Amino acid sequence: MQIDANKFDTIARGPFAPVYPLLASQILARSSITNGVCLDLGSGGGYLGLALAFRSRLRVCLLDESDDMRMIAEQNIAEHQLDNRVVAICGDVHNIPLKSGSVNLVVSRGSIYFWNDLAQVLREIWRVLAPGGQVCIGGGFGSKELREEIIRKMREKEPDWQPKCRGFGDDHFYDAIKVAGIPDAGLLKDESGTWVVFSKPFDLPLQTVSSDFATACEYK
Ligand SMILES: C[S@@+](CC[C@H](N)C(=O)[O-])C[C@H]1O[C@@H](n2cnc3c(N)ncnc32)[C@H](O)[C@@H]1O
Repeated sequence: MQIDANKFDTIARGPFAPVYPLLASQILARSSITNGVCLDLGSGGGYLGLALAFRSRLRVCLLDESDDMRMIAEQNIAEHQLDNRVVAICGDVHNIPLKSGSVNLVVSRGSIYFWNDLAQVLREIWRVLAPGGQVCIGGGFGSKELREEIIRKMREKEPDWQPKCRGFGDDHFYDAIKVAGIPDAGLLKDESGTWVVFSKPFDLPLQTVSSDFATACEYK
């Protein structure tokens, strides 16, 4: 995916800015995971991951395939003085450069619509997820009111602007869940958006660590 990082960041810092703290609070309340490692997939400027770090003791890994986005995320980490708990790395969600069983909470907002092979990403998420870990990936605005406000603001500049989620029916997600074989995964559809949610039971054995690539990029 080619992204104009600066253009996207202007939008994230502008109309979308109130979404991230709201979603972070909702995710923390729902998961009760406030310690350990959080992975934000397709993190852009890192605003969701940073909002989660602010509200918890989580160490957060921001992963994005765009190096321009990673650089913006690094500036944001420094700006918020979260260098000791948040790191931005460049990588593809289809081949997550982290060790198996190393992540307690996986989140993602607005990136899922760009992934070529959702089933492969779900397999990778399952691999890196620690026993007891939880996943909340999808898209949304946090509330109906925010969604309406953002659409209004975006259309002031781009009259035809539509949320990216349009055109992704529930089957797209259910099919990928089935292909990936993720047990007990489901869709959470509420005012905050549409999210694929699942967790890994505590009593599953850790899977094998994958590759040198994973080891080289091991989360500090
Ligand atoms: C619409 S932006 C959302 C950014 C951020 N999550 C947010 O809500 O502000 C989508 C992001 O997903 C990233 N992305 C898309 N496909 C990806 C992939 N295969 N691997 C990693 N990142 C990806 C893009 O580079 C972009 O930064």
